[in-house]
Amino acid sequence: LSAVKMLPVPAACALLSLAPVLVLGVPPIWTQPEQVHLSYAGVPGSMVVTWTTFNKTESEVEYGPAGAPLFEMSAKGDATVFVDSGEEKRKMFIHRVTLTNLKPAATYVYHCGSDDGWSDVFFFTALNDSSSFSPRFALYGDLGNENPQSLARLQKEAQQGLYDAILHIGNLYLLVHSDNARIGDEFMRQIQSVAAYVPYMTCPGNHEATYNFSNYRNRFSMPGQTESLWYSWNLGSAHIISFSTEVYFYLQFGLELLFKQYEWLKRDLEEANRPENRAERPWIITMGHRPMYCSDDDQDDCTNFDSYVRLGRNDTKPPAPGLEDLFYRHGVDVELWAHEHTYERLWPVYGDKVHNGSLEKPYVNPKAPVHIITGSAGCRERTDRFNPNPKAWSAFRSTDYGYSRMHVVNATHLYLEQVSDDQDGKVIDNIWVVKEKHGFSAWS
Ligand SMILES: [Fe+2]
Repeated sequence: LSAVKMLPVPAACALLSLAPVLVLGVPPIWTQPEQVHLSYAGVPGSMVVTWTTFNKTESEVEYGPAGAPLFEMSAKGDATVFVDSGEEKRKMFIHRVTLTNLKPAATYVYHCGSDDGWSDVFFFTALNDSSSFSPRFALYGDLGNENPQSLARLQKEAQQGLYDAILHIGNLYLLVHSDNARIGDEFMRQIQSVAAYVPYMTCPGNHEATYNFSNYRNRFSMPGQTESLWYSWNLGSAHIISFSTEVYFYLQFGLELLFKQYEWLKRDLEEANRPENRAERPWIITMGHRPMYCSDDDQDDCTNFDSYVRLGRNDTKPPAPGLEDLFYRHGVDVELWAHEHTYERLWPVYGDKVHNGSLEKPYVNPKAPVHIITGSAGCRERTDRFNPNPKAWSAFRSTDYGYSRMHVVNATHLYLEQVSDDQDGKVIDNIWVVKEKHGFSAWS
């Protein structure tokens, strides 16, 4: 503009009128990697690096142990083309590279991209695959790119190494007012400062539903062959199952998905309950977006006695089975949920009734699964309100923005706490779940 100032007025005006053309005419660097995020492939010693470019490039990760000269090792992968279903049919390349043979608990430094453009340098700690390892998790759902109140705290804590994995329990707000998937791009850029450092494990929520969950299915790289819709993996003494509650609500995408998932869940739970497997990974933890129980006042599924997720649906042919019985029969220990933009801890509950371990120590040898609803990380819809008269199973409630932490300490002890972002990171709730016995027989 200083050059423009020195020109005669008509010439300067002519040049300024060209400005939009000049700006549009400069080709952006579409080969630059962005939206870098990690996930765990479920295979010990592995890590998947996923990122996006808008032009076709090679897919490569250069990496090496922290402290050694940079980028001594490299691994190649490939890219899939994803075309958004919005009007503009925006096209992007989703790159995936799986790193293998990583040393458990060793820290690695990496960047990703190709000779057409490299990302910034990031680091991660390879997951320890020993069942005596005590992993720490951050848990939340409903974190979006508008009003993401807890994000800064999570970014810092992830980079400080406080967590071995993040569980984002649905509603990533990839698609609200999607602007031809640009909102999704923006969200993925925003979580990079968490997800490029710690495996970021997800499940789908209702806000991912547009165009049959295609943005969600294409952008993430969870274990298994279901485009991240349902899968399970092990860490420390936990077997973690992620699934889609949305199959109960978006029947237009196929009722068969609901049955397929149900059968998969049943098989996975049976396998996890084989004596040798349950002995090695005694904690079975589920994560799904919409809760079976809640005491919010918004008329969501969980506010109904006959919640679809809990009891299934009778209005489908054939009727669709719910999940409460399935999880109970297979001795699921902890069930993590979101969707309600609040935090709620339940007493051990089954069949709408409280099944505490004992009056004094409800979570010591509980007689039913423990449910946690953690959907208050921060999103455009703000927080929800509670029903003033909750049922007997509601133990603690908060409408503060925040997120949860979980520490699977060993075979018998699991710790859960709730962080309030409104109260500057204060821990406002915590419990120890203690189980001397796991599985269905632990309930009696
Ligand atoms: Fe939701």
